[in-house]
Amino acid sequence: MSTRAIVVRDDGGEVRAGVQQVELAGPGKGETLLAVTHSSLNYKDAMAVAGRPGILRGLPMVPGIDAVGRTPDGRSLVVTGAGLGERRHGGLAEQVVIEHATAVPVPEAYTPRQAAAIGTAGVTAALAALALRRHGAPDGPVLVTGAGGGVGGYAVALLSALGHRVVASTGRREALEEHLTGLGAAEVVDRLDPAPGRPLQQQRWAAVVDAVGGGPLVNAIAQTVPGGVVAACGLAASPDLPGTVLPFILRGVVLAGVDSVAIGQDARREAWALLVAHVPGDVVDRLTEREIGLGEVAAAADEVLAGRIRGRVVVDVRR
Ligand SMILES: NC(=O)c1ccc[n+]([C@@H]2O[C@H](COP(=O)([O-])OP(=O)(O)OC[C@H]3O[C@@H](n4cnc5c(N)ncnc54)[C@H](OP(=O)(O)O)[C@@H]3O)[C@@H](O)[C@H]2O)c1
Repeated sequence: MSTRAIVVRDDGGEVRAGVQQVELAGPGKGETLLAVTHSSLNYKDAMAVAGRPGILRGLPMVPGIDAVGRTPDGRSLVVTGAGLGERRHGGLAEQVVIEHATAVPVPEAYTPRQAAAIGTAGVTAALAALALRRHGAPDGPVLVTGAGGGVGGYAVALLSALGHRVVASTGRREALEEHLTGLGAAEVVDRLDPAPGRPLQQQRWAAVVDAVGGGPLVNAIAQTVPGGVVAACGLAASPDLPGTVLPFILRGVVLAGVDSVAIGQDARREAWALLVAHVPGDVVDRLTEREIGLGEVAAAADEVLAGRIRGRVVVDVRR
């Protein structure tokens, strides 16, 4: 069986991505075919499409860590992560083979396009919010870094709807102030210093949802109150953690890792239920910068990597 897809391939030592037909192996045990309508362009997908190493485990491969579509028996499903677009062909295709156990019904509250717009970014923000709760974050301001991006945008919307005072940190303060306060941010601040500062700084945050890593994450940890919780979700600035253990051993700060890929059904359903309860469809639409077709993915990937996208890019794979 063949399908139209974005394919990343090794072209004589150079990694290239383009739209072409690709052969799919039929579904095996515990798997089903999904006729995809929508996917999205996550940071990881942009890296894969741009030929950066570390995402696709083999070439040629179809990228796309999110897929929304219909099964042959008419069920509307959404899959996020679960190895799609990393270790198996992903959602930037008209068809994809998925594992049943990783799929969740598209919630009635959302259209298939909105489910893709939420995708991994929204699920990750929800998992971060659940981590703050699980680790007993105290009351007080919550810092969200990379607020102009997908994970950051959903974290701002969700945490403010949950009643937190959200401080949104962005490198595009002037351009995004209205957008982020519209999502519920109480305050919009510049990015934290990329250079790690003193190991213990003025206490400002009861909790942090971080999408950027590196020096900004170290500074956020150093500014977290005793017993505060920092959910580390991303590495848009850097995968490094160039800090000290002092905030952990002198302030009892909790560093909670968030992984949205290798999680079970229960965690997936809990994340989607939180989103349904607190992020209505009109907020999803405000967080969707644009919809593109497969042919526009490569150009949009460059914009994602350059940090020029506000929120999310949805891909209608039939276009
Ligand atoms: N843990 C997981 O399971 C999981 C799931 C999803 C994503 N992620 C990771 O989380 C990160 C964000 O993903 P995303 O899909 O939200 O990406 P995105 O939409 O591209 O957003 C990333 C944001 O990070 C900020 N940023 C970019 N470069 C930066 C830099 N050098 N210094 C500081 N901030 C910078 C920008 O926000 P401003 O312009 O507002 O500053 C940008 O919009 C990525 O690293 C991604 O791989 C992890």
